[in-house]
Amino acid sequence: MPKVRFEPSGVEVDTEAGTSILDAALDADVELDHNCGGNCACSTCHVIIDSGIEGINPITDDEQDMLDEAIGLTPNSRLACQCNLTSDVTVTIPDTSSQFADFDDFD
Ligand code: FES
Repeated sequence: MPKVRFEPSGVEVDTEAGTSILDAALDADVELDHNCGGNCACSTCHVIIDSGIEGINPITDDEQDMLDEAIGLTPNSRLACQCNLTSDVTVTIPDTSSQFADFDDFD
C-alpha cells in the first residue's frame, strides 16, 4: 500500500496502488488545486516529487505539454492527477498549487 507524504504540511496518507497523487491529496484533505478535475487540461495540480519518483508512471507527452504551463517548474515537477502510485512518495505542493496562491508574487 503506497504512502504519500505531502510537504510542507507533513501530512501522510496510505493509498491503494494505482491511486493518483491528486486523489490521495483529496482523500487526506490536503489542499491541492485541480481546476480541470484531473483531466490533464490545466497545470494547477503541479507538484514536485521529492522522493520515490520510480514508483510513479512515466510522464506522457500530454502531461508534459500541460506541465510546461506551470509556474516554477523543476526537473521533478509533475501533474498530480497524472501520477499513479505503486510505491511510497514524498511530494511538495508549491504555493502556486493552493487556492491561496497570490500570483502577483510570481511575476
Ligand atoms: S487537475 Fe488539471 S491537469 Fe491535473
